[in-house]
Amino acid sequence: MPAAGAGVRLGPGAPKALRLLGGEPLLVHAVRRAAAAPSVRMIVVAAPPADVDAVHALLAPVAPVTVVAGGAERQDSVAAALAVVPDDVGIVLVHDAARCLAPAELFEQVAATVRDGAGAVIPALPVTDTIKEVDPGERVLGTVDRSVLRAVQTPQGFSAPLLRAAHAAAADSHTDDAGMVEKLGHRVVCVPGSDFALKITRPIDLAVATHLLTLPPPA
Ligand code: CTP
Ligand code: MG
Repeated sequence: MPAAGAGVRLGPGAPKALRLLGGEPLLVHAVRRAAAAPSVRMIVVAAPPADVDAVHALLAPVAPVTVVAGGAERQDSVAAALAVVPDDVGIVLVHDAARCLAPAELFEQVAATVRDGAGAVIPALPVTDTIKEVDPGERVLGTVDRSVLRAVQTPQGFSAPLLRAAHAAAADSHTDDAGMVEKLGHRVVCVPGSDFALKITRPIDLAVATHLLTLPPPA
């Protein structure tokens, strides 16, 4: 679980994973839901390097976790966490702490699809806005066919050897792990995503998530 980001787009304050939603840090929400998934047997959190001990203390009452220092980019944080996952773990799910309300059922669905034989599985939602391609001057070049587009979430699930190979081969930077697997030429499959798995990026997302907390958990 990469959780080492600063949260620049959220505005000044603590590292994003430690900011509060309904009185609890985003990371507590995320770990609680991950730990509630029966398939999850080990959780590794990549924390801001200065906060490793504090994060361990914060999460100890929530679930057993291993905490490592994250890196400069998300990809580095995932790599640092992956490095402490034992070799006998066959399936790894990579989950952004910022998607702190992703339900346990989504972890199960992703894990089950990997268990059924897919090497790489991502939750995805249809795109609802009309999408335009623009030039550097914001002039519209055209309208993209959104029926073939998906907005992608986490947890993303992988056979562990495939994820390790993808990280070892990654020369450039990627915003998700499936992107590295695609680069290796391996198939990535989608399962239905969840509105609850939205990523807390800007202040408006915190407002939406605060409301989601008042709703019954998704089925
Ligand atoms: N992340 C990480 N290590 C980094 C950067 C990001 O572990 N060096 C994690 C974040 O903590 C988050 C996830 O990757 O859980 C997705 O990143 P993002 O939403 O971009 O979070 P931040 O990088 O914290 O936000 P911003 O880009 O606005 O600073
Ligand atoms: Mg970021």
